[in-house]
Amino acid sequence: MNILLLGSGGRESAFAWKLSQSPKCEQLFIAPGNAGTGQYGTNVNIKVTDFESIKRFVLNNGIHLVLVGPEEPLVKGIHDFFLADEQLKSIPVIGPQREAAQLEGSKDFSKQFMVRHDIPAAASRTFTRETLQEGFEYLATTGLPVVLKADGLAGGKGVLICMSLQEAQQEFLEMLTEAKFGEASSKVVVEQFLQGIELSVFVMTDGTHYKILPEAKDYKRIGEGDTGLNTGGMGSVSPVPFADAEFMKKVEERVIIPTVEGLKKENIPYKGFIFIGLMNCDGEPYVIEYNCRMGDPETESVMPRITSDFVDLLSGVAEGNLDKRELTISPQVAATVVMVAGGYPGEYLKDKTITGIENVRGSQVFHAGTYHEGELVKTSGGRVLAVTSLQDDLFTALQQATADASRIYYDGMYFRKDIGFDLL
Ligand code: AMP
Ligand code: GLY
Repeated sequence: MNILLLGSGGRESAFAWKLSQSPKCEQLFIAPGNAGTGQYGTNVNIKVTDFESIKRFVLNNGIHLVLVGPEEPLVKGIHDFFLADEQLKSIPVIGPQREAAQLEGSKDFSKQFMVRHDIPAAASRTFTRETLQEGFEYLATTGLPVVLKADGLAGGKGVLICMSLQEAQQEFLEMLTEAKFGEASSKVVVEQFLQGIELSVFVMTDGTHYKILPEAKDYKRIGEGDTGLNTGGMGSVSPVPFADAEFMKKVEERVIIPTVEGLKKENIPYKGFIFIGLMNCDGEPYVIEYNCRMGDPETESVMPRITSDFVDLLSGVAEGNLDKRELTISPQVAATVVMVAGGYPGEYLKDKTITGIENVRGSQVFHAGTYHEGELVKTSGGRVLAVTSLQDDLFTALQQATADASRIYYDGMYFRKDIGFDLL
């Protein structure tokens, strides 16, 4: 099978690494990829939202399956584009169509979906410019802190946790009347604050059957001890110790089954991954958000724990017989440390030469924001590399990933040395 993987981050590097291990994978192409993905397949210089170029490439290269990494092409309708095209419609795309991608693309859509299907989530209401006054009245009743969410995609920045009513009113006003997050905040979801500990649960579905992939925890803040600004993700671990069998049974019964069945009942096709961001509130799961893709850097910890053939699982999603495919999961523990550029998540350094990757001993190095300049590997993004170690226990995995990250160098290099320590 010839596979085209779309994306260029650490998540796609982990996908590419895993796909390339399958005997079912003949040729693997990654568009656009990065300096690391070229180890597992062929990089193709096409943007993930350039659907016409993707079409030409797919047809000219005998691609049998397209795996979509990031949300943007899904929310923009790449799957619908394939289905509407006579030449492309028989080529499966892993990732939902535009309508279902709204689970991530619109917080209001996802909240309404949860209400319709009785899926546990924070109480909320949605407001627009027209209902500004009602919004102010509602804010006065919610209690503090209160959570404000831009409805649309805002690059992970559209969620504000406000500690005072005055702050909440000010932000609410700016979001709705000054387009604080552009078009994304033309609707604002006002939500009850949930106290608890977060984790990410990943489901693979063909629209009828589903498999639960290894869960993971990610670390979003730039600073040690979960301090400072939010980032795309500074590290991850899998499994998550508090996600024991009892908790995961609740997640499956109260969240996963109603989600998959709910989509089906509403005739919303879904072939791909459902990423469920959950809060564990005293042992009870509440949904914080859905994403229509895998997480980054969670995928870097999830893929190494999958011991069965990942291409076979994707074929099950494509063909609608996922129930006939095998998913096996290693009991070992994966820890991922993300190495970022100096200055990130603000203005950050670029084009720095990376050295020492060859000195890594007991980890897999997944590239994220990197490119080749001749023989040199250079930095291009805020998140540069993800260093993942799979070991028998969490402590050893964390120690190994951290030690291996220390063997790599570039100007301005930074990573957190406390990933997963809250779980030890
Ligand atoms: P989201 O984009 O919806 O995942 O929100 C980003 C982050 O904000 C989440 O990962 C949580 O840490 C936090 N968050 C979102 N909603 C809530 C909530 N209702 N209560 C507490 N924290 C929240
Ligand atoms: N790690 C969170 C995300 O991928 O959105």
